[in-house]
Formats: sequence, structure tokens, C-alpha cells
Amino acid sequence: MTKIAVAKGDGIGPEIMNAVLKVFNAAEVPLEYAFVDMGKWVFDKGFSNGMTPEAQQAIETLGILFKGPMETPKGKGVKSVNVTARKTWNTYANKRVFQTLHGVDTVFSKADIPVDITVVRENIEDTYGGIEHMLTHDVALSRRFITRPGSLQVIRYAFEMAKKKIAKRITCGHKANIMKITDGLFLDVFYEVAKEYPELKADDVIVDDLCMKLVTRPDLFDVVVLTNLQGDIVSDLCAGLVGGLGFAPSANIGDHICIFEAVHGTAPDLAGKNIANPTALLLSGLAMLRHLGLMENAAIIENALLHTLEHGVHTGDFGDKSKPSVNTTDFVQAIIDNFGKTPQTGAKPMLPDQPATQTMFKLQKNPMMESKELEMEKIVGVDLFIESNEQPQVIANRCLRHAGVKFTLVNISNRGTQVWPTGSIYTNLVNQYNARFESIDGFPLNQQDVIGLYVSMSGDFKICSLELLNMWGDKKAYSLAQGQ
Ligand code: NAI
Repeated sequence: MTKIAVAKGDGIGPEIMNAVLKVFNAAEVPLEYAFVDMGKWVFDKGFSNGMTPEAQQAIETLGILFKGPMETPKGKGVKSVNVTARKTWNTYANKRVFQTLHGVDTVFSKADIPVDITVVRENIEDTYGGIEHMLTHDVALSRRFITRPGSLQVIRYAFEMAKKKIAKRITCGHKANIMKITDGLFLDVFYEVAKEYPELKADDVIVDDLCMKLVTRPDLFDVVVLTNLQGDIVSDLCAGLVGGLGFAPSANIGDHICIFEAVHGTAPDLAGKNIANPTALLLSGLAMLRHLGLMENAAIIENALLHTLEHGVHTGDFGDKSKPSVNTTDFVQAIIDNFGKTPQTGAKPMLPDQPATQTMFKLQKNPMMESKELEMEKIVGVDLFIESNEQPQVIANRCLRHAGVKFTLVNISNRGTQVWPTGSIYTNLVNQYNARFESIDGFPLNQQDVIGLYVSMSGDFKICSLELLNMWGDKKAYSLAQGQ
């Protein structure tokens, strides 16, 4: 029998996890559970990552974690255990399926517009790297990582999944018109991978336009792949299309470890009252059963769930308000009582069990994901982030004194807008500028040249940060300031 790790979580977590496991046990799902300690009370006990070493070891041995929602203590400087788990174990793809459920009324179900959207959200990178600094007392900076190998992993997963489900369309949501380098890289990788799947219709939509289109014509979309933060926002929007967070399951997929959980949080307002809706966690559990090849168990339970919803059985957060709602216990009992029944709409076929998707194997070292370097790289300049509350021309005069024989000051920007050598008097300023120095005539520089400039400039300014300007072949590996 397959053994998996289970963490019940905080708030409504234990109630809904017990409810889901009751359904699994009643269906005689052949799984064994190793209960592990993660969440708020583990933080409170002094484990700064929110899990005990034993929990980490069990999860790394078993390869599957089924988890309830967990609370991150506020104001203690600790990071979310949910994000830590996804990042530590490289569950690079967050798959969230949003489907119209018969019996869960929404504006779309009433208008007979079916919704069946799978959002694949990159799960490791982006602003979730959490690399943030105050550059000055007024200026905060967050770094956003988008990497080629990371994008490849998640986009390849999305295409493979789209191919398996014979998707009518796979769409990349992005903001590459503004974030040309980061989202531009993600979009480039999307179209590189798309070439390997000529049978799939692949296209891209700018994320703001995507949001508008999703709420007007959700039926036009099938699989949507996005970077981490945009994916987070768009997937909550999609949860709204199908009836809210109570119906939003999620699978965090990695090559070695996978985590199955609901999208929603600990719902402190409902905790301890036995009234929470366990559907999202149950749907996440069904995705896990299918991942483990337990197709028959998954179909029996899902058909019973759909049948139950169709018959108007509902918890307080959804359904016909003129009919009384049931509590969590009675809701799952109704599902159990409906085992063997099928819904009128959307019945799941009884597929034979399959081998588990995952192949667990022990790693000896951290995998290094690296692309081949294609072009010659050379340093052609540096951005120095400096603190000053002086006017641009005064700063330029001081910077020019340090340029020496190797550098030329090409521009100064403030909040990404060029303010020197040209600019507008109407541009509002903050006390942090970016002084961009480039090498004279594109002559290659080395790191010592850059440090030399840094040392010289530091006599005049507080330097908050520095970033090299690289050329790859004839391509600039950096963006231009607005107006440059
Ligand atoms: P939340 O998702 O817990 O609650 C938002 C709203 O949805 C509330 O009105 C709640 O009552 C309702 N809701 C959520 N789940 C429900 C369910 N199963 N049945 C019926 N109604 C439900 O989000 P919130 O309030 O922003 O976060 C609360 C805590 O959860 C925070 O500590 C947060 O960090 C944590 N959280 C954990 C997540 C995870 O473990 N993956 C994800 C999101 C938040």
C-alpha cells in the first residue's frame, strides 16, 4: 500500500482534512497516512521554517504531501511554510483546475457558459524569491527572478498536461510588453517549447487583457500558463468564475515531491465550527489519487460528490440560500451515501488504475539546472544605485568627475524614468537615482574596472546597490530606462 505524508494544518485544516480522509476510508482508498507536524504551532514551538525535521524527512522519503491550509504567524519575520514547502522541494508547477460544477450556481452556469480552465502557475521564482531591500528610507526594491531552466520546467509540464487532456488551446499570460527581459524570457521559452507540440494551438495574451477576457468569455480558454505572481492573481479570478475558493483545488508538481492542497487559507472565521466546505480539499485529494494512478477510487468519489452537489446539498458558503445548509460532517456523509451513483452532468468515466505518475528516487546532490552559454558575454557598463536628494544636473556633474578614462556617464534615471541628460521638470523624484555608466566605445570591461568606479563614486555618494551591464553577442542583457 502506498504511504503518503499528511499535514492537517491550521484553522479549518483539521476539520476538512478529517472529513476528506473519512471519505477516502469509506471508499477503501488503498493509502496509508504518515501524519506530520507543520504549521502555526510548529512555528510557535520555535521551528523557524514551520515544520519539524521529522516532517521534512518523512515528506522527502514518501514523496507526496497532502496538506491542509496553514497559517503564517504575522510580524515574527518568519516565511510562509506553504511557500517554503513549494520552494524547498522544487514543486515548480502549480496546477489549478477550475470547472463548472453542476449544483454550484454562478453567473456563468446560469447563462449556460461552461468553464473548464486549468491554470498552471510557475511556483518557485518571480517576486516570490522574496529578495527585497530598502535602498533608502523612502525606496524599497524587490528583485524578480525569471530563469530559463525554471521557465522550461513549468512550461514543458503545462504542454505535456495540455497534450494529455487534448486541450483546445494553451495560452501564455504575461506582461512582456513592460517587463521585456523577465516576462520576455518566459514568453520566449513558451514559444520555444510550443514548437515541440505542433498539434496544440499555442498563443499568448497580455495579463490585463487576459483578466478581461476570462471574465467575459471564460469558455474560450483551456490551459493558461503564467509566472508566479500573475498566476496567483489569475487563478483566484478563475476560482471566482466557478463559485469561489471552496471549489479551487491545487496540485504542486515537482519531479520528486508533489504537494496537494486547496487554494484557500485557514478561514479563521469558520474554524472550529464544523461548517467549512471541504470540496476544494477533496478535489485536491482526487487529483492526488489520479496522480497515484488510483483512477477508479477517484471516479467513484468524484461522481458521488457531483451527484451530491447536483441534489442541492451544500455548506453555508454556496448553493441555494432558500434551502438549509448542512455542516461539514453531514456534507461528507452525503457524499459517502452517494457512492455508486453518477451525476446527470459531467460524470467521470471509470478508467482502470494506472501506474503512479511519479518515480521516486533519492538524490545525492542538489540538481544544477543550467543552459548552455550560447553567446560571448562581455561587461560593457554598470548601473550604480545611489542615494541623493539633489537635482539631476548636480548629480550628473558629481558623477562625471568619477567616470575616468574607461567610463562614460550615459544617463541618470529616477524610479526608472530618465531625468538626465534629457528629461522633464514635471517628473517627480525620490531620493534614489540610478547612474548608468557604460564603457567608452563599448570596450570590454572587467570586474576590477567596475569596482574601481564603485570605490571612486563611494567617496561622493552612498551606493545602495550595483548591477553589471552585460552584452551577449550583440544583444543587450539589460533594459533601457523609460525615455532613454
Ligand atoms: P482564506 O482563504 O482563509 O479565507 C478567505 C475567505 O474565504 C473567508 O471568508 C473564508 O471564510 C472563506 N473560505 C475559505 N475557505 C473556505 C472553505 N473551505 N469553506 C468555506 N469558506 C471558505 O484567506 P485569508 O483569510 O486571506 O487567510 C487566512 C489565513 O490562511 C492566513 O494566515 C493565510 O496566510 C493563510 N493561507 C494559507 C494558505 C495555504 O495554506 N495554502 C493559502 C492562503 C492563505
